[in-house]
Amino acid sequence: MIEFQNVSMTYKTNSTVALDDVTVTINDGEFVFVVGASGAGKSSFLSVIMGLEKIDSGVVHVGPYSLRGIKKRELPYLRRMLGIVFQDFRLIPKMSVYDNVAFALRVIGMGERKITRRVQYVLKLVDLTDKADCLPNQLSQGERQRVAIARALVNNPSVIIADEPTGNLDPALSNDIMRLFDKINSLGATVIVVTHDLDLVKRFSHRIVTLENGRIVSDIPKGGRVSAKQMIEEEDAIIPKGGVLHG
Ligand SMILES: Nc1ncnc2c1ncn2[C@@H]1O[C@H](COP(=O)(O)OP(=O)(O)OP(=O)(O)O)[C@@H](O)[C@H]1O
Ligand SMILES: [Mg+2]
Repeated sequence: MIEFQNVSMTYKTNSTVALDDVTVTINDGEFVFVVGASGAGKSSFLSVIMGLEKIDSGVVHVGPYSLRGIKKRELPYLRRMLGIVFQDFRLIPKMSVYDNVAFALRVIGMGERKITRRVQYVLKLVDLTDKADCLPNQLSQGERQRVAIARALVNNPSVIIADEPTGNLDPALSNDIMRLFDKINSLGATVIVVTHDLDLVKRFSHRIVTLENGRIVSDIPKGGRVSAKQMIEEEDAIIPKGGVLHG
């Protein structure tokens, strides 16, 4: 379970308040979309969960860890609970698909036999078994993102966190990737996906948390009815009225 109670977080370098009195609970096994305009605090929310940013006030629990008083030596254990997927994939160019996925397990000193089993399992899950020996630059964009997802999954984390995982993909590929997250969720992982893509959010029936200026302004449960008013408000939060996208 991930729990935020009245959490505020300020970037010390420029005194930007990124999270402002955020209270939210994400239960084990949930799938949550986090949406909101650029600068709303979405990535900051994820950074706090990952233990990358210290909070000013409030309480954050991620699984058994209370992040306020977490010790430096506990951080690697927190991060092992989390599988992280980035928009720009962040694969190691000179390593094969197999090695990119195996890398994190080698770092923690897992035996090669166990590594092979895990890597084969996750590559099958993302349907890339036949690409194991390819280098990242020999793959399509969607395949690269699937490698990144396999890498996030290989350590069997209980929570998958993805920041704009479809930001570099066309709509059809975005849909495939989101279905893959669905599958991962149905296998038991908690999934948190930050996205700008409201069409995608609408196509999948999951909880939707909307941030605005560091505050949660709406939290629509899975299968909850989204009123027309809420939808318009969320469209506005993501594409501000008068913004260039409206022409
Ligand atoms: N490292 C940083 N140092 C100082 N301020 C930051 C830093 N990262 C983000 N901010 C500021 O904190 C606020 C929240 O930023 P955040 O990156 O969480 O937004 P976001 O919702 O992820 O936006 P985007 O959709 O553009 O990725 C913004 O005002 C941003 O300028
Ligand atoms: Mg961001």
